[in-house]
Formats: sequence, structure tokens, C-alpha cells
Amino acid sequence: MIRSITGEMVAIIFKYGGISAAILVGLYAGLLGLLSTSAFQTHVVYLHKIQMTWFKDLDVPESFGFMRNQVTTFFLESSDGEKLHAWHILPVELYRKHEVALLGEPAGVVSDITSRHAFKLLRNDPDARLILHFHGAAGTVGSGYRVPNYHALSAGQPGKIHVLTFDYRGFGRSTGTPSEDGILLDAHAVIDWALNVAGIPPNRILVFAQSMGTAVSAAISNYFALKSPPAVFAGTVLVAPFIDAATLASSYRLVGTIPLLSPLAKFPVLFNYLQRFMRDKWSTKDRIAQYIRTNEANGEMYRMTLIHAEDDYDVPWDHTTTLFWHAVNTTTLVGISYDELEEKKTERKKDLGAAGSVMEWHTEHGIIREEILKSGLHDVIMGNPVITMAVMRIFQALDPSFTC
Ligand SMILES: *[C@@H]1O[C@H](CO)[C@@H](O)[C@H](O)[C@H]1NC(C)=O
Repeated sequence: MIRSITGEMVAIIFKYGGISAAILVGLYAGLLGLLSTSAFQTHVVYLHKIQMTWFKDLDVPESFGFMRNQVTTFFLESSDGEKLHAWHILPVELYRKHEVALLGEPAGVVSDITSRHAFKLLRNDPDARLILHFHGAAGTVGSGYRVPNYHALSAGQPGKIHVLTFDYRGFGRSTGTPSEDGILLDAHAVIDWALNVAGIPPNRILVFAQSMGTAVSAAISNYFALKSPPAVFAGTVLVAPFIDAATLASSYRLVGTIPLLSPLAKFPVLFNYLQRFMRDKWSTKDRIAQYIRTNEANGEMYRMTLIHAEDDYDVPWDHTTTLFWHAVNTTTLVGISYDELEEKKTERKKDLGAAGSVMEWHTEHGIIREEILKSGLHDVIMGNPVITMAVMRIFQALDPSFTC
């Protein structure tokens, strides 16, 4: 999000533009003024125009390192008519088994995905699992660490775990302009596709998200949990989530050092102003709390895993400890303070040394899990084995026979 003002954008400018920090800092005053305009907010919050996939064609997944027809490229439609560019990614062992048939099909964008061999492998296998992927701000389905991320997601069961990833409206090849309401319609369309076109029941679907995507997936998971009858997915894995847009903006540190908007956070009046002028609130803290409260009340099984690296310079890791606290607090009768929970952690959390620590909170219906890693940065983490483990832990909890 506002890491946007910053995060990926600044990284890119530094990497490719050679603009000095001094100039960026000089832009600060102007930035604050500009930020209060809606069109500018859209651009700095979502960074959707920064594609980071130069010289590559999103309709040619092979150019991102996939094998021919391992990825099916197609368009989904949102309820308000936006066309969303999506990739259905086959796991490698499944690809190997069906290589001949897959190679026999033409490459390129597919107009009717249901006619494709890869799609039938998903829809017709009662053991297939599907990961719905919600990427972060900036870039596209093919940018940065997202491709290694897809490999890590299916690595635990490479014969069974499919990934569906897509670009939100205004990103990549998708039409439209991003906004909180619009992106939630996009997420809705993706889930509808998974449930109704691919025909996968919620208990074989896992929601994975990173950074800005965590806000999208927390919102949409909550929406489906609130439905009657509810649809609760096998689990939700959130990497580098944030409390809400305003808190993120105020805690963001430019290139890990310069607190960009934090002067505002020191003064409640200014912070309230910040909250008010941000059109899109993305209140993950409230949505996670409501999601858990609803599932507890409905007696629905849920699993939520929050993962954050201590060396994440884009979104500070205390966003995750705060979200974990809000989630846990929801499951208690009288409430628990942040400090009380931290105290419980010192007794109960698993210390993994240089790998970090893990704290789990179990209720009758759910498991809320917090993994704080020592390293992994903001994006690199997505291609790491902890991601494979997070996925397998959730699928195996529901079905112990789900192994290689
Ligand atoms: C924590 O839970 C208690 C009891 O349900 C509630 O009264 C309180 O508002 C919650 N605190 C937060 C910060 O949500």
C-alpha cells in the first residue's frame, strides 16, 4: 500500500533510476499535498502502473520460466464487467504426467478455459487442491518473487496443488482502475470461478496472499464466512500483512530508515486526518476479527497463518503481532491485552533460533498461527520453504493422507 509511496516503487527507482534519497526527501512536502487527491492516492497506494515485467509478455508465461502450457492464460470477468487477466498454474509433477497431452494444445491466451486439458485436471480430480493467490501492490502476476512463490506453494504436493493467480483491475492486462470496492469485486469473481466453474469445494481451497493482497484476502474471506450458508476455506496464509492502510502509511519507513508519515502519527489530530483522507481503508484488523468471531459463532473450522520477517523494511513486523493479538482477542470471553498475550508467548512460543519463532493459538474450531522469521525481507520470503510448509500444514490438518 503506502509502502507504495515507497516500497517497491522506491526500490525500483533506486535500482534503475539512480535517484538520490535527498531528492526523494525533498519531494516529501509536495507528496503530502498530492496524496490528498484521489487519483494520486490510487496510483501511490496500488502502484498498478509499475509493471516490473519489462520486455516480457504476460500472455507468454514461458518467458517467466514456465514450461510450455504449464500455465493457462485466460480472462475472468468481474460482476461489474472488468476483464481480469489470470493464470492457472499446474504443479510440476502433474505437468510431467500429462506432458504429451499438454504439449499437444496450442499456446497463448485461451478463450474457453473449460476446454483445456489443464483445467480438466483441476476440475475432475477429487483430490486436487487449489490455491487462490492475491499478490501485493505494484507489478503483475509475473513480477519479482511471485513466480518462485507459485513454485513454493505447490512444492509440497506437486501432483495435486494448483495455483490460480490474477491481476487486480488496472494491473497488468486487467482492465479498469483499482479501488478497494473494485478489487473486492475482482476477488469475488475469482472465488466464484473457483467454486462454480472449477467446482472446487471450499475445504480444498487455500487462500494465499502477500502484502496488499493480505488486505484483499482478509476482506473476501470474511465476506464468504459471513454468507449463509458460509463458505470457509481450508486456510488462509497471510505473508507480511498490515493492520490497515492508515497505520501502514504512518509506520512506513522510506528505504527502511526515513519515517515518511510517522510525524503525522504522533499527533492524533493529524493521524485522524490521514485516516480520513485515505479513500481506501483496508482494515484488515477488523476483518480478521470479524472472520474469526463469525467462524467461532458458526462452529466452522478455520486456520489462519500470519507470517512476517523481522527484516521486512516495507511493512514492519509488529503489524503481524498486532493482527495476531486482534485475532486471538476475538476468541476470548473477557479479552486479552497485547501485553498479556506477549507474556503468554514468552511461555508458549516455539523458539526456532535463527529461524525465528512460532506461536499457535488453538480454539475448539480454529488455529491462529503466528510465524515471525528472523529473515526473509518483504518479498524473498515468498519463495522460501516456510511457504511450502504453511500450505502443507493446513491441507494435512484437514486430510492427514494428503502427502506425496
Ligand atoms: C478484546 O475483546 C474484548 C472481549 O470480547 C472486547 O471487549 C475488546 O473490545 C477487544 N479489544 C480489542 C482491541 O478489540
